[in-house]
Amino acid sequence: MQTPSGHPVAATSPESTRQARLVVLASGGGSNLAALLAAHDDVAYGARVVGVVSDKPDAGALTLAQDAGVASVVVAPKDFTDRAAWNDGVAEAVAVFRPDYVVLAGFMRILAPSFVDRFAGRIVNTHPALLPSFPGAHGVRDALAHGVRVTGCTVHVVDSGVDTGPIIAQAAVPVADDDDEASLHERIKVAERALLVETVGRVAREGLRIEGRRAIVG
Ligand code: GRF
Repeated sequence: MQTPSGHPVAATSPESTRQARLVVLASGGGSNLAALLAAHDDVAYGARVVGVVSDKPDAGALTLAQDAGVASVVVAPKDFTDRAAWNDGVAEAVAVFRPDYVVLAGFMRILAPSFVDRFAGRIVNTHPALLPSFPGAHGVRDALAHGVRVTGCTVHVVDSGVDTGPIIAQAAVPVADDDDEASLHERIKVAERALLVETVGRVAREGLRIEGRRAIVG
């Protein structure tokens, strides 16, 4: 069975109306957050953004959250004595929302292992390259500089490394001869938004488990 928007739904199960609680962490404009917000009003999507946390007071993601009536909080490093205290502050801010899953959607800081342990196996990140190639903050630039013909995006479970966790889903994006970083990133972001919404919905509805290097939905 599918809803008008195409999301599958288990017809009569009481669980079919239960929406997983998502907390989204974002540092930037928030187009990935916007895509999740556009999906979450359909109960059959299976997930709802209940909170947004940003490290940047001027992040566009905060405005998007406000416009959607979703609670948001800024946890800025400058308000903390050190990185460990900031990390604990982020963890507390996230925990207040009692998330089923934490979604890093353009969150441009590394979270400490204590954060990863606290929400172990329930943190999902979107990265604008085909991991394990081109991890880190400049995945688009690095892929372009390397001269790859195909790059893309990856949704993966977060572990304590940088973009090293088990991969849930990927989408390929061809590189055009005249691409620069901005044009390539824009096309990747189109694919990335669709992949993130689709993958987070599947994870929320079906569950996620890790077997070795593999992340398995369902
Ligand atoms: C995305 O491409 C994300 O993967 C990268 O930064 C971009 C954030 O975009 N780390 P937005 O803020 O969701 O529009």
